[in-house]
Amino acid sequence: MDFKKDLEDIRALEQKSYPEISKTKHSLGFHLMPPAGWLNDPNGLCEAGGVYHIFFQYSPKNANGAEKYWGHYITQDFIEYTYTGPFMSPDNQLDADGVYSGSAYVEDGKIYIYYTGNVKLKGDYDYTYTGRLSNTILVKTDDGTWTDDKKAVLTNKDYPEGMSCHIRDPKVFKDEEGYKMVLGARTKDDKGCVFIYASSDLVNWSFVKLIESGEPFGYMWECPDIITIAGKSFLSLSPQGVASEEYRYQNIYQSGYFALKDDYEIDESVPFTEWDMGFDFYAPQTFRDEKGRYILIGWMGIPDADYTNEPTVRDGWQHALTMARELTLEGNKVIQKPLAEYEALRDQRIDSLSFKGMAEISVKVLEDKDIRLAINDSLVFCYDSNKKAAALLFDQDKENMEGAVRGFGRTVRKAKVESLEDIKIYLDTSAVEIYVNGGKTVFASRYYCDIPERKIDLTEGLTPEIYSLKQFKINI
Ligand code: FRU
Repeated sequence: MDFKKDLEDIRALEQKSYPEISKTKHSLGFHLMPPAGWLNDPNGLCEAGGVYHIFFQYSPKNANGAEKYWGHYITQDFIEYTYTGPFMSPDNQLDADGVYSGSAYVEDGKIYIYYTGNVKLKGDYDYTYTGRLSNTILVKTDDGTWTDDKKAVLTNKDYPEGMSCHIRDPKVFKDEEGYKMVLGARTKDDKGCVFIYASSDLVNWSFVKLIESGEPFGYMWECPDIITIAGKSFLSLSPQGVASEEYRYQNIYQSGYFALKDDYEIDESVPFTEWDMGFDFYAPQTFRDEKGRYILIGWMGIPDADYTNEPTVRDGWQHALTMARELTLEGNKVIQKPLAEYEALRDQRIDSLSFKGMAEISVKVLEDKDIRLAINDSLVFCYDSNKKAAALLFDQDKENMEGAVRGFGRTVRKAKVESLEDIKIYLDTSAVEIYVNGGKTVFASRYYCDIPERKIDLTEGLTPEIYSLKQFKINI
């Protein structure tokens, strides 16, 4: 394949596709979507010289996902974005079957990008225990539009014994000792774990340790990330194979964090906390910006779910990124709030419960009671003060009424919430993010509605504050 031509063809495809898909009914106003085709994990998140880089896993030619490239948005204010073109393609023998997920580390203005080069050997293999190479590759860039040569800094021979072929998603960070890298893995006996490597020059890496939970917690840990906020460290990861419970782990795969002790071992006294309790959230990544803020962006989608995004697939695209969320610490819990920059999206205060388009809806709850907030009758957020539980649900009986919201297989997601104080809903055309109690619990979900009119029904005695929202400005 002529890879230079392939990238040019993709650029032409994006420039044709985005103007078309951005006019379709479910095109998003303030969530980043792929310029064409399919998007998954956020990758390489960083700020360099006042410019935020948002790379992502990308299959531009197929809305149902295919070979993985990296796409790339830049922004300075989280309101206006420029899409700079596909950044990397699987053009090398080190990454022939996909430029998989990875991270960025900024040093002296240069962006060091580490990612997994996925290679499937030809032959009769199962590709879980045999037949797959996972190369940890470094490329450097100044601005995310051009990369130097791909260099493998770790290959299968550098990983510990006893591992399956599933080892991926390097995240690089720095602690008091120097540069560290965390990689996600699946052992041969199907236990999720992560490895830590260390480096003094960002190029040569040596194995430090393997971290696992006392009790097995799923068969694979994807997209690991070590974050230290106000002196407390957390291991964020996306485990696969954790059994569902009524109020936890309800999606096919999860994303959340363990608290860590000083030596990065898991603090077993603190339970794993999920980042998001909604239907559509996976593979988040964090970074620290030049102002010192910790920022998380997730994939507003999930692989292998039994619900779909059929309406956007029909339009030639699928999935989005969540809003960028600032992380702060309250006790052992990480609080998530959309970045302050999004306040600039507010357009007008709306004094009615019916409006058209996108909105920010805030509700203050003064007494402990049952609450129900419905959008177009069928998308419901409710709180049960006896069970001390919140839920996001698609009302199956109403979904087929005219103008109703439809979940395309999404049913209900619940979360334990000690008491309900406030709710903030960011309602995009086909995506919703609900921040409960100032961001202590969050639900992200896609939803589908054929009309632009939205109508709120809310428990008597409560008055929402509603602002209509403007949309991002996207330059393709
Ligand atoms: C998570 C993930 C990563 C992998 C990437 C491939 O969604 O499976 O582990 O690197 O997607 O697109």
